[in-house]
Amino acid sequence: MPRLLITDVAPRDGLQNQPTDLPTADKAWLIESLARCGVPRIEATAFVSPQAVPRMADAAEVMQATAALAASHLCVLTPNLKGLARAAQAGAREVCVVLSATETMNRKNIRMGLDEAEATCREVIAEARRGGLRTRAYVAVAFACPYEGATPPDATLRLARRMAETGADEVVIADTIGAAHPGEVGEMSRALLADLGPDRLGIHLHDTRGLGLANAWAAMQVGVRRFDSSAGGVGGCPFAPGAAGNLATEDLVWLAHASGHDTGIDLKALLEVIEGFSQRLGRRLGGRSHAWLRQHFGLPQSLDAQAA
Ligand code: COA
Ligand code: ZN
Repeated sequence: MPRLLITDVAPRDGLQNQPTDLPTADKAWLIESLARCGVPRIEATAFVSPQAVPRMADAAEVMQATAALAASHLCVLTPNLKGLARAAQAGAREVCVVLSATETMNRKNIRMGLDEAEATCREVIAEARRGGLRTRAYVAVAFACPYEGATPPDATLRLARRMAETGADEVVIADTIGAAHPGEVGEMSRALLADLGPDRLGIHLHDTRGLGLANAWAAMQVGVRRFDSSAGGVGGCPFAPGAAGNLATEDLVWLAHASGHDTGIDLKALLEVIEGFSQRLGRRLGGRSHAWLRQHFGLPQSLDAQAA
């Protein structure tokens, strides 16, 4: 049975854009609970400027509260050397850099142009490797940019290959605003798999236009084995207008299991975690299959987040 490696990005991509701040203890609960139901990797937090992303200001505290998982399960976002130093100090063992495929998105997201952003990613990757940390390089807005429109596939391919040459352990193409369609996802994935192989390529999907699962399927069909998704579909990016919810982990796991893939994730336990997460966040979460899955597993349809 082919095995998929799912990274749940709810604690970072999911929470960075929420209207309310989740207390550190609740973030730690979410991370630990996801690990307990078999999620192999969790994007725990971001070592970014607290002015830029106030919701991630407690990054060091989150790492401290989940220290037992750092080596085995956690990755964190580090956009620059300062972020890397903070992350290493906090015990991170795997770091992610983000290079957007367009000039404008880099400027909006990390206040650097494309060339400077690329140079910074290279520096962070090199320094992380020197420190023995694993690295993931995201190519954001890989299919479309909220500011520049459709991203030329060659731009994404070129940057993805360059990040791989730099020594990133994994390159992740990100449909940051959920605008990709399955045809282009399949094509891009096939091209990059030929260079990188299934252990070095990941894909990060959003479900903004309802094509999240179709895009995941297109990637799976050509051999992609590493996926990002978010428990309950929580997500969005403060610097990418229109970046609505991430592909929901429960939808992805359901698709994977239904089509004969193994994920190591206990789906029923995951639904219970999403219920607890909804209550802590004070709002109803859940992907497209959520209500049906709860019924399927004999769980009550009790998602009344108002009561929380
Ligand atoms: N962690 C904490 N603080 C940081 C930091 C980091 N990784 N990088 C910079 N800072 C601080 C600096 O120390 C400086 O603080 P000071 O004003 O007290 O001296 C301040 O932030 C400005 O530093 P500067 O280097 O000029 O950064 P900037 O203002 O140009 O912002 C980034 C650049 C990358 C730090 C910022 O845009 C950022 O954090 N972006 C993250 C975006 C993100 O998370 N997007 C999510 C989707 S991928
Ligand atoms: Zn995202």
